[in-house]
Amino acid sequence: MTTPTAEPVFDELTRQRAKEIIARYPQSRSALLPMLHLVQSVQGYVSQDGIRFCAEQLDLTTAEVSAVVTFYTMYKRRPSGEHLVSVCTNTLCAALGGDAIYQSLRERLGSEGRPLGHEQTVGEPGSSGSITLEHVECLAACDLAPVLQVNYEYFDRQSVESAGELVDALRRGEKPRPTRGAPLTDWRTVERELAGFFDDLPAAVEGPSAAEETLRGTRLAERNGWAAPAMPEHVELPALPEKK
Ligand code: FES
Repeated sequence: MTTPTAEPVFDELTRQRAKEIIARYPQSRSALLPMLHLVQSVQGYVSQDGIRFCAEQLDLTTAEVSAVVTFYTMYKRRPSGEHLVSVCTNTLCAALGGDAIYQSLRERLGSEGRPLGHEQTVGEPGSSGSITLEHVECLAACDLAPVLQVNYEYFDRQSVESAGELVDALRRGEKPRPTRGAPLTDWRTVERELAGFFDDLPAAVEGPSAAEETLRGTRLAERNGWAAPAMPEHVELPALPEKK
């Protein structure tokens, strides 16, 4: 029996981009993570075709590719919405309202009394206004908790009300401005950017990258002339135990 190929799914441009990604690395297998982002930018998730495509291009087995896909939560196994809404429910955000935000969004985006589940999508995947909702671990913005991200751009200091208004706007096809980071596009575009392909690089990185709260420690250190201790020239590592 012949193995079905990924030919119909991945066009010439995608194959060309795959080659460009592979050329960035001394060993082709190192290109797997951006390759998977490329696949998601085309398909909106990593399908079995996507797994086969990466395996063929990188001379890996499909089992090796699957192991990576299922390890990292950024790789989705089901078709995703136009937007990925990630609500932080780690300790600090949860205590300050993240759990309540996630719960309220589940209910708001669910239907017929059934709340939307983790990584479930409301709307036809990929269509305008469709949303995939997920809860995530710490987004490294605890000083601005509770936070959520849309397509990995930050919306800081959220509440049940503001998060509800945000997803309503996304459902209407609007693209509200994130608190920090670049203007919203859509999840597939961001996946293409994560693979290293930008239509307009200055626009894709335009926007505030750090909040005043985050910079406060740096400013305090500058004012007081504080600096981190210099790195030692040489670090003595403990000897490894002998192999028996
Ligand atoms: S706990 Fe939510 S950003 Fe750290």
